[in-house]
Amino acid sequence: MSPAPKPWGGRFSAEGGRAAEAFTASIGFDRRLWRQDIAGSIAHARALARAGVLTAAEAETIIRGLEEIAAEIARGDFPFRTEYEDIHLNIERRLVEKIGPLGGKLHTGRSRNDQVALDMHLYMKDEIRTILAEVAALQRALVDLAERHLDPPALMPGYTHLQRAQPVLFSHHLLAYFWMLERDRGRLADCLRRTDLSPLGAAALAGTAYPVDPEATARELGLAGVYENSLDAVSDRDFLLEFLAAAAILMVHLSRLGEELVLWSSAEFGFVEPDDAYATGSSIMPQKKNPDVAELVRGKAGRVFGHLMGLLTVMKGLPLAYHTDMQEDKEAVFDVVDTLHQVLPVLAALISTLHVRRERLRAALAGDHSGATDLADYLVRRGMPFREAHEVVGRVVRHCLEAGRALEELTAEELRRFSPLFGEDAPAVVAPEAVVAARRARGGTAPERVREQLARARQALAAAGGPPPERRDSGAGPR
Ligand code: ARG
Repeated sequence: MSPAPKPWGGRFSAEGGRAAEAFTASIGFDRRLWRQDIAGSIAHARALARAGVLTAAEAETIIRGLEEIAAEIARGDFPFRTEYEDIHLNIERRLVEKIGPLGGKLHTGRSRNDQVALDMHLYMKDEIRTILAEVAALQRALVDLAERHLDPPALMPGYTHLQRAQPVLFSHHLLAYFWMLERDRGRLADCLRRTDLSPLGAAALAGTAYPVDPEATARELGLAGVYENSLDAVSDRDFLLEFLAAAAILMVHLSRLGEELVLWSSAEFGFVEPDDAYATGSSIMPQKKNPDVAELVRGKAGRVFGHLMGLLTVMKGLPLAYHTDMQEDKEAVFDVVDTLHQVLPVLAALISTLHVRRERLRAALAGDHSGATDLADYLVRRGMPFREAHEVVGRVVRHCLEAGRALEELTAEELRRFSPLFGEDAPAVVAPEAVVAARRARGGTAPERVREQLARARQALAAAGGPPPERRDSGAGPR
């Protein structure tokens, strides 16, 4: 029910109610739902006409009025008013201003409870699709960079515990992020299926008493189905929680990548250099180049996690069905949507323009003893149990550390002092190229496996479709 305007134009009973009015109004942020709200109202007007609640002429007048309102908002001359609380009432009141009391018939058989839920379903459906395309674009940037450094392959240390462990292909390391993002797209696509539902027909909570066909309205709005239960339809915010959860996991991945780019940009690593367009100088230290974009990608994860926790907490104690608490879903979701729309493209651009210092990657492998496992494997191939081989090679490495030698420098003769099983071909197995070439099982870092992996990544992307659609203005104005 739309509350009747008070004499002074507000929803609360006295002049003192202005504070409450400002406190409860959502128009400051839910105005970005105007397209969805008008689309839902047009579909509802048609449903009322089909049900015989409105005449065809009445429905026409209402729809024309709504279209004029849409044009006003798009032009930026719609009079948004806080005393009308939210986008739904702002549009309805404007409709009455434009077409008279007939405008008051639009809300028949509907409530703002199913209306706001519908708006969020429609809004999220669009946004998730755009975000899916933006994730795919970042994946494409990663695959392109991986491909550029695959022939000939750039080798680098792979790390565990942030200690140099075994050499890997730089491309292999990048593609690890590709597959994380592939799972993120899977989660978002799954969430999209449960977003693609219409709550219309639920009305306030118990269902509408008018003979409308919610399935026909859903179809008209391009939604795949309807809720089975009206109480659930108006109080379900799972689709938003799922989106926030998927976004939070996505941000974990982007933040880890951001962190690696920060580390790699340091003098200690010196593996990469962000392009000048994505780094700044320090205002005081002339020699510095700060990886700001990568840092802020990492930093943005915090607000996304926070919004997930926030909405989970809002929802956890609510009895059925609608409560004004649920109005808190919007700023959380909008902020996460806006954050992803910023983070994904800028990170893709950073990756596409990244300067990779291949010689530094390779130099980090010199003298790091990361072929030790392969030397042990050599002994295993000659019959020694792995645990024993591990011990023998441990002694070899200790010797290297004491003598200031690199594992790769030791001759077969020197190696034989530790075990007679070492043959003339033993020194060759510790060369980083030999170490990566040996990891030939599926998913391993051998160049031919990484080439196949990259081809599978390209296939997954081809199935994902084209670049992100042009973002249209949300009408929300600057936030
Ligand atoms: N502004 C409200 C929201 O964002 C719309 C629904 C209000 N419904 C109600 N009965 N007060 O959730």
